[in-house]
Amino acid sequence: MKNIVIAIDGPAGAGKSTIAKILAKRLNIIYIDTGAMYRAFTYKFLKNNKSIEDKEAIKEMLDNTEIDFRNNHIFLDGKIVDNEIRKNKVSKNVSNIAKIKEVREKLVLLQRKIANNKSVVMDGRDIGSNVFPDADYKFFINASAQERGTRRYKELEKKGTSIKLENIINEIKQRDKIDSTRKLAPLTKTEDAIEINTTDLTIEETIEKVLSNIRERG
Ligand code: CDP
Repeated sequence: MKNIVIAIDGPAGAGKSTIAKILAKRLNIIYIDTGAMYRAFTYKFLKNNKSIEDKEAIKEMLDNTEIDFRNNHIFLDGKIVDNEIRKNKVSKNVSNIAKIKEVREKLVLLQRKIANNKSVVMDGRDIGSNVFPDADYKFFINASAQERGTRRYKELEKKGTSIKLENIINEIKQRDKIDSTRKLAPLTKTEDAIEINTTDLTIEETIEKVLSNIRERG
């Protein structure tokens, strides 16, 4: 059977990873969370206290960084960092790290390598536009900023973190702005992507829309 690539792009908190994970399970293919890769490098960068202007230090750090997915965990230099990369400090800084050319070059290469010769669902900001412009299926998942902020608020609340809803919405808007206005591979909906607005949809309804689109196109 031919390998397929499903690209899922969209802004922060739109539900991409939830949808992509379920989709991968149902289709029995691999899920790759590219946001987690940018988060992992950001986590390492913050821990090392380097300046974002220090391109040499960033290059050196990139050369000495291993990011990998195994058994649904993300590994940074051999250690599971699933929880660390979701911390608010990482969320606040990740978009400024993700716009650096060297960072994108390394992570995009790695994304293509991980997906090589496999069927994958990959979610992020530039999958359909840049990582896999020839993806078999492209979806752009969106929702209102209010709804996206509320979802993220509930997620954090479950983990015992209390941050004001208003602050979360503002941070999400700020991240969307950096992601969609950056020079390199900005967040964008490509012409051939199917847009799904999930503001008033349940997870199951969204999955159904994606799957029926895939079935329709064969
Ligand atoms: O889960 P959430 O929607 O909060 O974001 P994420 O998918 O974990 O991505 C975190 C950040 O990584 C984004 O805000 C982007 O700055 C960056 N990113 C990117 O530049 N390109 C990608 N393909 C994926 C993420």
